[in-house]
Amino acid sequence: MLNDLATIPELDVRAIDGWTLHEFAEVTSTNALAAHLPPWSAVSAGVQTAGRGRSGRHWVSDQGGLWLSAVVPTPGDPAHWAVLPLAAGWAVLSVVRALGVAAARLRWPNDILVGRQKLAGILVDRFSADAAVVGIGLNVVNRPETAEIALADQIARLADLLPEAPPTAALLVRLLAALTREHHRLETGDIAGLCRDLNNAWLYRHVHVTITGGQGAINGHLDGIDAHGSLLVSNPAGGVRVFPVHRVELLREIF
Ligand code: BTN
Repeated sequence: MLNDLATIPELDVRAIDGWTLHEFAEVTSTNALAAHLPPWSAVSAGVQTAGRGRSGRHWVSDQGGLWLSAVVPTPGDPAHWAVLPLAAGWAVLSVVRALGVAAARLRWPNDILVGRQKLAGILVDRFSADAAVVGIGLNVVNRPETAEIALADQIARLADLLPEAPPTAALLVRLLAALTREHHRLETGDIAGLCRDLNNAWLYRHVHVTITGGQGAINGHLDGIDAHGSLLVSNPAGGVRVFPVHRVELLREIF
């Protein structure tokens, strides 16, 4: 099988705080490889040749970036884990801020930006009912604009935001620890705590929301998310509309 771990030369397997991390020089997509692994496994790669972004987009994954997929257990009612993509966004944001990038912020659902430039993206795949793959792409010292010129003014990287870019190994440890912490928070049902953290992290709140299935679009104020992870968007008259995640095709910030 194309994405079977056994067919790709592996650099290393390491145990990190309850995780088993498989490291590769080059893969198609770390999410694709992680799909075959049990919970608390993770896959990282130096390069992805077919990195995947949300909504079927391509994700440029050149050398010097951090490309990580982590498999977490999602037992019980799937609805309980609906906020996992949001929790993963908070996990990555908290790591980036702790490194010293105080201006890092979230754009719904889980993009990590500095100003208007994207520093990290997250793709959560559900390949089975009882586990999810959390894929994280973080620009560190890579130069994605070399592969895709249009990215030149759209991306941020740690190398430009910190006096010195942290080594990938240290970043992997921090990210996996943050995912463990946020997974625990969801497992114990502390959704309110997650909502509180998230609702402080959406910076630009004037938004344009496109609704799935050609159901239209609205402009409004992003009030935050509720305990189910649904988006709350209000209009100037004070009416609040509630959009479950699957009903939102796109959220654009209006500046
Ligand atoms: C997005 O913002 O569109 C999500 C980007 C997610 C990219 C990461 S890189 C590691 C993992 N493997 C993939 O193929 N995609 C995710």
